[in-house]
Amino acid sequence: MIFAGIVAGGSGTRMKSSNVPKQFIRVLDKPIIIYTVEKFAAQKHIDEIYIGIKPEWHEVMDTLLAEYSIDTKRVKVIDGGSDRNATVMNIVSAIKAAHKVKKGDIILTHDAVRPFLTDKMIEDNIIGALKYSACGTYVKCVDTVVSSQDGETVDETLDRSRLYRAQTPQSFDITLLDKYYSELDENQKAQLTDTCSIFTAKGEKIHIVEGDAINIKITTDSDLIIAKLLASRV
Ligand code: CTP
Repeated sequence: MIFAGIVAGGSGTRMKSSNVPKQFIRVLDKPIIIYTVEKFAAQKHIDEIYIGIKPEWHEVMDTLLAEYSIDTKRVKVIDGGSDRNATVMNIVSAIKAAHKVKKGDIILTHDAVRPFLTDKMIEDNIIGALKYSACGTYVKCVDTVVSSQDGETVDETLDRSRLYRAQTPQSFDITLLDKYYSELDENQKAQLTDTCSIFTAKGEKIHIVEGDAINIKITTDSDLIIAKLLASRV
């Protein structure tokens, strides 16, 4: 089976202008999370969509799903976790509780606050996860990237041709994701910055799916300005 796991359990502390978690901010009158859910709901290959969210936002989420006529037979709202990967793993647990998960069943994990992902990214993630067991969406670095030890002087200019920025979806064979995460200790889990890192921490390779600069993560108030422009062009 093919599942989508939309992680929406954060608080959006870097979005200073809003007193609601950023995934609920309305962009051109539609909440960011609804743009995201609609993208996955439009994909016929996806059997079920899980949304991991703070318990106090469940009611709001249910109301929004009804308001935007999203088929709730395919969409389940569950509790998020203490960090992003804990939310991913809560979704995996909920899937395991509802289905007899077997090798070859995959999950596309995605940030609720990346509403501009494309159909092609979703399709390529499905193909990548089925074929390689783990894939992620990446864009080549276009900026020159440097490193600095002291934050005041530059030590080194990194080789840009080898650098990529990670986006989501990041997609996996569910049995492997579950196994590898359970094999990490608490210290290793705390070091992870995304879900693909669970695989790289175990020495596993991640297949690269081509992302796009348009697939922004809405993090700060300036991202919200860009999001309004992007939403108005479609
Ligand atoms: N996320 C989650 N569960 C958490 C923390 C984050 O599902 N415990 C989700 C966020 O809702 C978001 C995605 O992970 O969709 C990417 O995280 P980020 O942009 O860092 O979101 P926040 O944690 O909400 O933002 P901030 O760090 O500014 O508080």
